[in-house]
Amino acid sequence: MRKSPKVEAPRRGPEKPDLLTPEEQQQAARLISRELFPAGTKGSLEVTRTGAIGARDSGHGVFFVNDQKGDAFAVKRFRGAEDAEAELSATARAAKLGFKTLDVVGGYSLGELGTAVVTRRMPNLTTMNQIGWQDAQPGTEQYEEIAATLRSIGDFSGEMHARGMTHGDWQIKNVAVTLATGELSLEDFDRPPSQVFVAHDLEGATFAEDTDPFIFEGYCAEDLQTLTKSLVERGFLRSATPRVFQEELTDNLFVPYWEQTGSDRVFDLWQTQILPEAFKVREQSGSSQVAAMAGMVATGAALQ
Ligand SMILES: Nc1ncnc2c1ncn2[C@@H]1O[C@H](COP(=O)(O)OP(=O)(O)OP(=O)(O)O)[C@@H](O)[C@H]1O
Ligand SMILES: [Mg+2]
Repeated sequence: MRKSPKVEAPRRGPEKPDLLTPEEQQQAARLISRELFPAGTKGSLEVTRTGAIGARDSGHGVFFVNDQKGDAFAVKRFRGAEDAEAELSATARAAKLGFKTLDVVGGYSLGELGTAVVTRRMPNLTTMNQIGWQDAQPGTEQYEEIAATLRSIGDFSGEMHARGMTHGDWQIKNVAVTLATGELSLEDFDRPPSQVFVAHDLEGATFAEDTDPFIFEGYCAEDLQTLTKSLVERGFLRSATPRVFQEELTDNLFVPYWEQTGSDRVFDLWQTQILPEAFKVREQSGSSQVAAMAGMVATGAALQ
């Protein structure tokens, strides 16, 4: 019998910052323009300074360009052509599985600068690290909104896995939604998750179709683990008791997730690895409550 493997370390960590300089971005824009607007046709891309927006949380230093008609595009530079190819192929597969994705224009060689994946800029795209996870305390109205958002993220994570895709770098900064009104509000999460969430940054995605089911479940657990860890790192329920922390995380993230997948093995890994790891990260990031009770996880109580 196969032993239950540990949830593996993330398959790809954050890249070392090695971002294009402004001059290199201009050069990349020129090279992409040549492909997009062949000789004889008019047009060129200009780097926009709003490019800095995406770059804040972007290991790849995503930047934005405009063409002369005013259409806006996002440029994501990969060092290796294979990684760019993986992103392109996974994006196409995610769309086929019914997920909202970025609208891909194409992949372009940038010579020694690497390879660019160009997408149309989605004006109302926002990521979940914009939420004040650290501010809300249970019992407050603000917390109710945060908990509803988390349930929606749990639901979408489950839907992604149930349809046969894992993300591979599932952290709140990579959980993106398209806003209904231009501003993030609870109404956004009243819509079905597949209309709200945008599957993107899919370079590390895996598909059940190509993967041994047992391994695939391990990848599912890994997505949940990186997601949970990113929440803890953002200070989610930092000053709550360990019990409240565990219950809220389980009720609002894991239960909606599990309702979609029903995976017993991921349930097991949630209790034996993901929660204990969350407690460890919590302790390392200095929660006062947790320091006294390091390592304590009331496993088994969570879903019963
Ligand atoms: N087409 C687009 N429209 C609008 N914003 C975009 C678009 N593409 C990327 N962005 C912005 O750039 C950010 C970074 O993109 P993405 O997550 O794909 O890159 P990354 O550098 O791999 O990030 P990570 O650091 O997570 O690895 C996105 O979260 C989003 O804010
Ligand atoms: Mg990202």
